Amino acid sequence: MQFSLSRALPLELKTPCLILPLWSDEPLSGIAAAFDENLDGLLLDITQNDGFKAALGETRVVHAGGQNAPRMVMLGLGKRESFSLDRFRKALVKGARAVRTLKKSDFALALPATETQALPFLIQGAAEAIELGLMQFNDFKKGEHFAVESATILLPESADESEAQTAIERARALSQANARARQLVNTPSNLKSPRTIAQSAREIGESSGVRVEVWDENRIKEERMGALWAVGMGSDEPPRFIVMDYAPPGTENDAPVALVGKGMSFDTGGYSIKTSTGMEEMKDDMAGAAAVIAAMGALRDLGVKRRVLGVVASAENMVSGNAQRPGDIVTARDGTTIEVLNTDAEGRLILADALAWTGEQNPSLIVDFATLTGAIGIALGQEGAGLFCNDDELAGGLERAGIATGEKIWRFPLWEEYDDYMKGTVSDLKNIGPERRAGSITAAVFLRHFVPKNVPWAHLDIAAVAHVRDARLLTERGATGFGVRLILEFLRA
Ligand code: BES
Ligand code: ZN
Ligand code: ZN
Repeated sequence: MQFSLSRALPLELKTPCLILPLWSDEPLSGIAAAFDENLDGLLLDITQNDGFKAALGETRVVHAGGQNAPRMVMLGLGKRESFSLDRFRKALVKGARAVRTLKKSDFALALPATETQALPFLIQGAAEAIELGLMQFNDFKKGEHFAVESATILLPESADESEAQTAIERARALSQANARARQLVNTPSNLKSPRTIAQSAREIGESSGVRVEVWDENRIKEERMGALWAVGMGSDEPPRFIVMDYAPPGTENDAPVALVGKGMSFDTGGYSIKTSTGMEEMKDDMAGAAAVIAAMGALRDLGVKRRVLGVVASAENMVSGNAQRPGDIVTARDGTTIEVLNTDAEGRLILADALAWTGEQNPSLIVDFATLTGAIGIALGQEGAGLFCNDDELAGGLERAGIATGEKIWRFPLWEEYDDYMKGTVSDLKNIGPERRAGSITAAVFLRHFVPKNVPWAHLDIAAVAHVRDARLLTERGATGFGVRLILEFLRA
């Protein structure tokens, strides 16, 4: 999407289509009133007599013959008092999709007059909503795919143009990172493996000033990552361990913020095999890794000044003569022995080694991203991710970032009573709890075992939000890139 800013008066701007935002609880004012006058009261007529209420995201196309904008999309923002950046983004996605339905490749957007949001936030929100809401994954679909190509944002007179431009650049970096994560997740698993994921990390690192190191299966074994190795050994595609190091000048020896991602390029469940429907979407089992890799690639563009380490454990969970069996006992990097009672609880195994290694790097904090449990969808549905955290300040920071970006997260308890659930009988730990209840919590409790006690750590279970079956507000069907904007907001310079 090409964005431009214009200081033209709204009535004078020539554009194939103009999006005109309207409040549901106020009469037409400002730009809308000016257009209404030009159109002999047509807009007012529509609000009074044609059932257009300007509810949040409601759209109505107006054929405005003879105007500089021959098509207008009236876009409802809902009530002024309920206005928020999140609601604005949601409404704008509807507006942008209406433009696409009209097959207009260019459009212009008038911004609502509001005191509650500073202009740069409105502009950034608008640009993100337009980019994210229109992004479609059509790589494998023949035929023509109509795409909206450019948007002009109309600046109010008082606007500071360089601030507005910065907001657009920021939105662009965030949307691009989100798009990269989506692309990696949407790629089917016949075209994706731990090796291709590592290759993507290398390419993204190279183009964004991030050092990337990749360990192959031999190194993984030498480094005593017995859990990652055991999960990976059932596949013809060998596992990989990926480290991305972003260190702006002068921070090379700082304690890094560490991001850790689960990177299963496919999860059949292994011998504890999934049902066929349960397996349908398991190409998305590397969405945590995708979020980490994509976020790492945006740090320099966003001017992040801290050192950030991105760590990904990647494997493919298959069945074969080499695959692990239920009841196998493996030894993780930190020496913990784990009885693998269920080979489908493989994410926590590969993360055990990744977290143990990350803990050795003296991190200032750790945030991991993982499509870890089906149970998180039972708890929260598709509306948000589960947050599990041993530190209130870190939890608060992530929650605030999630509110800012519209990526909802909800904190679960990690009461010490749960610790017993994962204790082993013939080993230190077992990889599943005694029952299905509290499945997302027990998984998190398992992970916590591998994190040094004094390090603030958060685990985001994104299993239910990494991928959506039907178009949602900020995403079309498919991968969502959940977590990318959230963590970049958290790391905001
Ligand atoms: N990758 C799955 C979790 C998942 C489920 C992701 C649904 C996306 C959608 C994970 O490896 C898994 O299979 N977890 C098991 C754990 C169980 C065996 C304790 C689960 O949730 O059923
Ligand atoms: Zn699994
Ligand atoms: Zn999995």
